[in-house]
Amino acid sequence: MANKNLTSAKRAKNDEFYTQYGDIQKEIEAYLEYDADVFRDKVVYCNCDDPYESNFFRYFVLNFKKLGLQQLITTSYKPSPIANTQLELLGSDTQQPKGRPKVTANKFVINNVQDFDGDGEFNLRDVAMQLKANQQNEWSPLEGDGDFRSAECIELLQQADIVVTNPPFSLFREYVKQLVEYEKQFVIIGNMNAITYKEIFPLIKEDRLWLGATANGNDMVFAVPNGSKIAESDRQKAARLGYVGDYTRLGNSCWFTNLDHGRRHQPLPLMTMEDNLKFSRHKQIKGKTHYEKYDNYNAIEVPFTDAIPSDYEGVMGVPISFLDKYNPEQFEILGATQRGCHDEVPDTKKYDDYWEVRQDGTKTGSSGGKTNENANLLGNDGKKNYFINSEGRIIQSAYQRIFIRHRKN
Ligand SMILES: C[S@@+](CC[C@H](N)C(=O)[O-])C[C@H]1O[C@@H](n2cnc3c(N)ncnc32)[C@H](O)[C@@H]1O
Repeated sequence: MANKNLTSAKRAKNDEFYTQYGDIQKEIEAYLEYDADVFRDKVVYCNCDDPYESNFFRYFVLNFKKLGLQQLITTSYKPSPIANTQLELLGSDTQQPKGRPKVTANKFVINNVQDFDGDGEFNLRDVAMQLKANQQNEWSPLEGDGDFRSAECIELLQQADIVVTNPPFSLFREYVKQLVEYEKQFVIIGNMNAITYKEIFPLIKEDRLWLGATANGNDMVFAVPNGSKIAESDRQKAARLGYVGDYTRLGNSCWFTNLDHGRRHQPLPLMTMEDNLKFSRHKQIKGKTHYEKYDNYNAIEVPFTDAIPSDYEGVMGVPISFLDKYNPEQFEILGATQRGCHDEVPDTKKYDDYWEVRQDGTKTGSSGGKTNENANLLGNDGKKNYFINSEGRIIQSAYQRIFIRHRKN
């Protein structure tokens, strides 16, 4: 019970991370660089975004004309603790339209933007005035709470071409499932660990979802509601990146998309296996006679993406961070070590008759079955727990791996 409470507290926290304008701008510009018309005449929907708090709304409304959008729809979620309170997006003097409930889930539909007050400049003030006047653009309360799964939000989703947002992390699987079900294009933020979810990985393998163009594997800073509890180290890291106050940082957040961008068509420069063994910057590779083979997969272990040998024709196990460098013309993704995701690279051995041992020689009490389907290597690195059988044979698991192969030209 205590654990459950802890988990839900953590979730609530992560579900209220607000994306920085600059991060959105960098990512969207990468798609524009590849195809300047990617958003032209499109309906963009941000379905977890209150304009008061969301820089997604802010970015798309301010760049509405530049992108050539047909329409921008955003819906907010009522239980958000800072609903309609935090961002001075519409100006601190802004009131909701007369007769509208103050804190509720809202729908904003932008069809046109212009210099509404005629001061020679187009900015958020114009957007606010135009919204308040409810001319051409629409600002109205939703019937429900704005849950992205509600019938009214699904109806809006159906009208949209491209969904762009940072959805609640705790509902990421469900969120992506819905986008795929409605065959939408999308650019969304998630946690890099989602790569290994059994609902997400098959989409990556089938080239129906890939990582975005920026920020993958880098620190990303998010605003959090006033006074939120954040790990001091994250607060300090955010501060070092220039964000002081109610900000946190996530080192493992990234963009997930099915919109094309140029970065994923750049080939990864690689050395041959022989050169890697001679010159690699990694001590685990340099000076070795060969790349290790897994004990239970017909594949070699490649612990670093930049150590992928250019001339190896077989299957290679690489870290999940490889996906940041993945070019579908250069490599084929065959599977991943998690259960149910490696039909094309079957595991050749099970470890049910092994048991797990700590480095101090004591048993953990777990059977070797625990490491079935991990990528396992023969031997003991002297650091991690290992698995041993009655004949004294020792194996250890590598981290989560993706199985890839060079594409043949
Ligand atoms: C990670 S925050 C990101 C907010 C905003 N998209 C941004 O990036 O600044 C996720 C947002 O989704 C909202 N949310 C949580 N559960 C939701 C649901 N079931 N349907 C729609 N939105 C939800 C939260 O209140 C929060 O505002």
